Amino acid sequence: MTFAILNGDLVNRAEAKVDIEDRGYVFGDGVYEVIRVYNGKMFTGKEHLERFERSSANIGIHLPYGAEQITGMLEELVEKNNLQLGIIYMQVTRGVAPRVHAFPDQNVTPALTAFTREMPRPLAGLANGVKTILTEDIRWLRCDIKSLNLLGNILAKQKAAEQGCYEAIQHRGQDVTEGSSSNIFIVKNGIVTTHQSDNLILKGITKDVILQLCSANNIPVEEQTFTLDELAAADEVFLSSTTSEVMPIVKLDGKKVGNGAPGPVTRKLQELFVAEVENQCGTL
Ligand code: PDD
Repeated sequence: MTFAILNGDLVNRAEAKVDIEDRGYVFGDGVYEVIRVYNGKMFTGKEHLERFERSSANIGIHLPYGAEQITGMLEELVEKNNLQLGIIYMQVTRGVAPRVHAFPDQNVTPALTAFTREMPRPLAGLANGVKTILTEDIRWLRCDIKSLNLLGNILAKQKAAEQGCYEAIQHRGQDVTEGSSSNIFIVKNGIVTTHQSDNLILKGITKDVILQLCSANNIPVEEQTFTLDELAAADEVFLSSTTSEVMPIVKLDGKKVGNGAPGPVTRKLQELFVAEVENQCGTL
């Protein structure tokens, strides 16, 4: 039997049902996190919980449990499901209430749910790199909130999928923002650049790990907006996310990045990232 968390209780996954008037279902009124599990241990769990609290606070959802309590529940969930390699998906919605746009009364309890899924590391992509497309960023102006509303992201990813690509790189006019479910980095003359963490992108946990790894290993790095022209002229391009780790990008809209193979800085960061995972979670 597989378990899930439904409002603080560990329940049989098959019986974890939510009300059709849950505001998450009706309005997408909630926020979420995806956390990697390696060797049965959460990677950067603390950082994910912090972002979960921040996203919730940003939309005025008062989490029904503290970060420590939620962490305890997630650890129990992983153990009960005997999850070794995979993800935890967790979300909180504003709860169940009659459909009125404005927030419901204070006495409506936010609904917290979580489940796990086995998920291998994307080894082929990590080794050879992936293809991407470019697409205009049509999302709202609070992309820093990890909102359940993902239509812009979904439409971008679908466009990529229809062209046999792994990811869609979004841009607002000339400025590159982020992938549909990842952060984007370029490398030029040995310098790593990625969009600053503002309202136009999600402050990725993996991105932050990479920034720290760069600093600790004397790899020049800057958080700064870069343009489509700079993307096209980059020596190396890669993306980062909880599920994709440090993933080389070898094609942009059918055009090769550099010589079309993952570059040395990307390779180095992949190595450093794996070492960091092994440091926190044990040998992969
Ligand atoms: N996506 N940007 C967007 C829009 C994302 O959805 C994600 C993560 C990231 C990378 O963030 P992190 O490194 O914290 O995973 C950036 C998750 C994994 C998802 O929705 O599946």
